[in-house]
Amino acid sequence: MKIICAHDYQDMSRKAANIISAQVIMKPNCVLGLATGGTPLGMYAQLINWYNKGDIDFSEVTTINLDEYRGLPREHEQSYWYFMHKNFFEHINIRLDHVYVPDGANTDAEKACKEYDEIIHRFGGVDMQLLGIGVDGHIGFNEPGAAFELGTHCVDLAESTIEANKRFFASADEVPRQAYTMGIKTIMQARKVLLIANGKAKAKAMRTAFFGPVTPAVPASILQMHPDLTVVADEEAWSECPEVIGQ
Ligand code: GLP
Repeated sequence: MKIICAHDYQDMSRKAANIISAQVIMKPNCVLGLATGGTPLGMYAQLINWYNKGDIDFSEVTTINLDEYRGLPREHEQSYWYFMHKNFFEHINIRLDHVYVPDGANTDAEKACKEYDEIIHRFGGVDMQLLGIGVDGHIGFNEPGAAFELGTHCVDLAESTIEANKRFFASADEVPRQAYTMGIKTIMQARKVLLIANGKAKAKAMRTAFFGPVTPAVPASILQMHPDLTVVADEEAWSECPEVIGQ
């Protein structure tokens, strides 16, 4: 596990963008696993900035997103498909037939998840998987208690996740109660994993995920076993980890 301590959100975003950028330069036709949420927004903005300067080319890249709300069509403003297009894909030269997000509009959960695993398999797996982390230690939408051996599957969202994500909706009632997510097995099969985090709200999750026991109670803790994991977080997110802040 490679741990990087950034000063603040901007520094975290630049460092993470550098790592993604290096991946794309080293393997232009790579498969990037991408994530949504507030955390990666600064990183996407930085990558767009470098693309505009001609420093990075996404024309051969394929992206496979982590998760999607079940029941939201693509054009819904809170769908992750919409998020990715609005915040990243529309601003770079990625081919739109090279981007994949689980099909939230397909309410046949078994079919939607099976099809998604087939897509991941068809591309030979993910080269670099980007992850954020939930306040309860979730990754993707793998909530506490999630089995480590699952591929893409349908989950019931934890109350704390609905609470954390309601800021994007008119009210908590409008947050979908279920989602399709890559499973822990899928995530662990990525050749490289990059997890990013910022802010005090994530401090406890960072402590239990990276300096506590590996347990399904903290889904991100399994990443300690990944052979090529990089964690970039700011000082606030590391504030409960003296092992890092003291370095
Ligand atoms: C959601 C997403 C996760 C994300 C998490 C944290 O639940 N499914 O992929 O990592 O929220 O989001 P944020 O970055 O907004 O804190």
